[in-house]
Amino acid sequence: MSMTEGARSNAAVEVFEQAASTYDRTGVSFFGPFGAELVRRAGIRPGERVLDVGCGRGAVLFPAADATGPTGRVTGIDLAPAMVRLTAEDARRVGLTHVDVRVDDAQQPNFPPRSFDAILAGLVVFLLPEPQQALRTYARLLRPSGRLAVSTFAAQDPAFVAAMEALAAHLPEDQPRPTPAADPFADQRAITATMAEAGLVVTAIREHRVESRFRDVGHWMEWMSSHGGRALLRHIPPERHDAATADADRALESARVPDGGLSLTTAIRITVAVPRAGAAAFAR
Ligand SMILES: C[S@@+](CC[C@H](N)C(=O)[O-])C[C@H]1O[C@@H](n2cnc3c(N)ncnc32)[C@H](O)[C@@H]1O
Repeated sequence: MSMTEGARSNAAVEVFEQAASTYDRTGVSFFGPFGAELVRRAGIRPGERVLDVGCGRGAVLFPAADATGPTGRVTGIDLAPAMVRLTAEDARRVGLTHVDVRVDDAQQPNFPPRSFDAILAGLVVFLLPEPQQALRTYARLLRPSGRLAVSTFAAQDPAFVAAMEALAAHLPEDQPRPTPAADPFADQRAITATMAEAGLVVTAIREHRVESRFRDVGHWMEWMSSHGGRALLRHIPPERHDAATADADRALESARVPDGGLSLTTAIRITVAVPRAGAAAFAR
């Protein structure tokens, strides 16, 4: 990993470390239904050994633990220690003894080859410095009959895009604007090529949409601050916060619903892939 890539990765993790206590805990339906659908698409069966990379607060981990049951085992890894601590506490609180959560890098998880029946990566691969290399490692960590299930963003709600632009206009002059980078998960063709380069054969790519409701723009800003959106918000100077919120509110006008709240719909793609060596058996 180069210095720049390392710095980028650490900055992403720092944001999630700060967001951990409220991540997926602001009363908004978003990560939960996406995580449950990822587990459903991966077809996790009782008794399986599962790795959840970038587990956050367990939106994927807990449905996976339900699916394996106590005869299986689910390991969650995350590079943000607060995510790991809080998720491990949640697992203990509900008495899950077949779940463990630890600090480890999703770029290169530290496990012996062929350790897992399934590897799950919910909304995380695009945050990694070198996603292709990570996918290659996942292919090695899977048993020949194993599968990888990855979720990535598809279309964003136009109102969301407009609100992000409204917020970005309040960044200090010297703060770099969010710029679209080459995206190895941009569409189905790119995803299939990215997986192929990593030694994985795609068996399905499906879109899944979730509607999220917010009481008002204040609730939306609270939610934004509880996940990756914090990377943008934290650079808006405090004295500009009210004006930025008012501009975001205007930009979200098309998302307004009759009760005065806001409704945004997000689409993700769920890709399921198998190691090339196991693909022939899968096709039979
Ligand atoms: C958008 S969240 C997704 C969390 C969870 N999978 C979900 O669906 O709610 C991304 C998570 O990946 C973690 N993360 C980012 N880079 C990572 C890395 N290199 N290794 C492990 N975890 C990482 C962040 O700390 C954060 O918890």
